[in-house]
Amino acid sequence: MTSVLSQKEHIVWHQPTITREHRERQNKHKSVIIWFTGLSGSGKSTLAHAVEAYLHQQGHKTFVLDGDNIRHGLCADLGFSDQDRQENIRRIGETAKLMLDAGIITLSAFISPFAKDRAIVRRLMPAGDFIEIYCYCPLAVCETRDVKGLYKKARQGEIKQFTGISSPYEAPEQPELTLDTSRLSVEESIACIVELLNARTVLRTADITE
Ligand code: ADX
Repeated sequence: MTSVLSQKEHIVWHQPTITREHRERQNKHKSVIIWFTGLSGSGKSTLAHAVEAYLHQQGHKTFVLDGDNIRHGLCADLGFSDQDRQENIRRIGETAKLMLDAGIITLSAFISPFAKDRAIVRRLMPAGDFIEIYCYCPLAVCETRDVKGLYKKARQGEIKQFTGISSPYEAPEQPELTLDTSRLSVEESIACIVELLNARTVLRTADITE
């Protein structure tokens, strides 16, 4: 059987005619990855979709990669062991990179519990294009929210390897932004994120090079 490695030698990168820069000029904004990380129930999906709605209304090209949804398709074969979570984040990282080249403001909402896996995704992107947002929320508050009833099941031992209960979560040491979602309203968090995007001139057409 031919090894994957030897097959790779026969694959040549095709330089696209229409580049990310062309798309950014057409879209009139830059593309970027806004990577939300945090415990289940910490508000990642809520914020990703709320920020997307705000940006969409402004006419920007956006897309949300959502943990629960991606696990219905692209990552349906993966579970919650450390190895499977690593592969989950690897696939999402590669997907996010494609979205970056597609000129889209991509918002991803995955627990992404391991610092090493998040660092690998960060390194996949050009410097500055990966914006890590830590949705900080005390475990006790996430458990009280328990929107999907999963913490209760995890405490009862019905769900194994549950993040925060029986599987670790490594908080980011230097995220671009930390939002304490137990104290901030959704609107306040959106304002912080939009401020960050403005500070980085993501939404300013004047800064897109001709
Ligand atoms: S990650 O750890 O690989 O990044 P991901 O964000 O894709 O996780 O999926 C997390 C979602 O799967 C949670 O929001 C929750 O709804 C569900 N889930 C089911 N089982 C688990 C588990 N053992 N640990 C964490 N989340 C789980």
